[in-house]
Amino acid sequence: MKRVLLFLSASVFSLTFTSCVHKKEVKVPQDKVEEIKAIGQKATRELMMELKSNLVKAINGEGIVGAISFCADKAEEITKEVNDKLINVKVSRVSEKYRNPGDKPDEIDKKVLKYFEKKLKEGKIPPYYITAVKENGKVSYIFYKPLRVNQFCLNCHGSVNEMKPEIVKIIREKYPEDRAINYKPGELRGAVKVVIPEGTKGS
Ligand code: HEC
Repeated sequence: MKRVLLFLSASVFSLTFTSCVHKKEVKVPQDKVEEIKAIGQKATRELMMELKSNLVKAINGEGIVGAISFCADKAEEITKEVNDKLINVKVSRVSEKYRNPGDKPDEIDKKVLKYFEKKLKEGKIPPYYITAVKENGKVSYIFYKPLRVNQFCLNCHGSVNEMKPEIVKIIREKYPEDRAINYKPGELRGAVKVVIPEGTKGS
């Protein structure tokens, strides 16, 4: 009974909260899908290429330990620079087990991440997911691309016993509330998220 009540009050809370900020999920018009996908994929590519090339440069210059400091200091800045170049759209990363608190998922992100998890378990993870939200009368489309863990990621997202102690130390200093460890290859690490206001042109 207590559980039911808890669930009910949680639902009421989330309903009140949703109506309070006037943000709700709406249907994506079928004829928009291709355009949203193209814009989403382009912004995703730009962010990932920028992050990757900077990470590779840092590793080549200072090794993996130097690279973690670099990531910690620069990932946000690089994401901001990519966004400054994009017109109208906003690209970011979200994760249930986030390292940077700025990457904490909202309710819709959480739902999409859960959907990716479920599909991954079924061996059918889709290459992307598109939804739409209406906030204060304005519609935005949201494009998500799932990000999975490979062996390389474990240098900084693996188990504490297997990561270099210097890396663990830097992570603990920089991110005292870090959740982004103990991953295994193949797992879902998070998603790239691209918010595209209705009416955005181009691909
Ligand atoms: C050199 C260390 C390092 C490696 C290797 C690394 N990461 Fe990270 N990762 C970080 C750091 C540090 C952050 C936090 C960046 C920030 O403050 O914005 C992060 C953040 C992220 C985020 C954003 C969500 C969050 O937790 O804040 C994702 C997604 C992510 N990493 C995925 C990956 C994937 C996938 C790989 C492998 C392809 C990988 N990372 C490899 C250090 C690393």
